[in-house]
Amino acid sequence: MHDHQYRESGQLKQIRTSGEPIRVFFAIWPKEAVWRQLCDLSEKLELVCGGRRTRAESIHLTLIFLGEMETSQLHTLCLAANTVRGQVFNFIVEGIRYWKLNRLVYAETGETPLELFDLVGSLKNALSAYGFSFDHRTFTPHITLVRKVQRHVLPKSLIHLVEPIVWSVNEYILVKSEQARDRSVYTPIGR
Ligand code: 2AM
Repeated sequence: MHDHQYRESGQLKQIRTSGEPIRVFFAIWPKEAVWRQLCDLSEKLELVCGGRRTRAESIHLTLIFLGEMETSQLHTLCLAANTVRGQVFNFIVEGIRYWKLNRLVYAETGETPLELFDLVGSLKNALSAYGFSFDHRTFTPHITLVRKVQRHVLPKSLIHLVEPIVWSVNEYILVKSEQARDRSVYTPIGR
């Protein structure tokens, strides 16, 4: 095991690496009140739709999924990410949708904030400039709340949330994804 310390533009990142390949993605992670509201929604949806809700600590919105890379590439990845400066924005969770093909239920916004598109666009440009490859499909922001859904009848009060959730976003994180038995475990490694 080695400790790598990444200090860029005043940011400190401490990453323990083992030389093994690492699976990573960039995401935004809800805090406190928004996190609680999304947890409540996932619990409600699990009852309505069957399947398995996303564990509370794993609820997030993926910005860019990179997949596997060598741990030695993390330093360059942080250099690339540190060239990106986003802007604070509100992501308003307005409704729930069912994705038949993948048997998922997810939360979405009505109108994606331009700042979010800008952030993802800037990150993609920076990652490409530093030689990283990733999925270039159009970014469709979604927060997966239930998987392996058994029933896809969603009540109107969930399709359009009676009280939309206002998520104030001021940071994005780099996350390590590991497979533990039948589930994914996510650990933030950069902020
Ligand atoms: P999902 O919620 O729609 O499954 C970590 O796996 C995160 O990256 C998840 O939020 C997942 O989205 C997203 N992701 C995007 N592309 C992926 C891929 N090819 N493999 C695994 N996860 C992917």
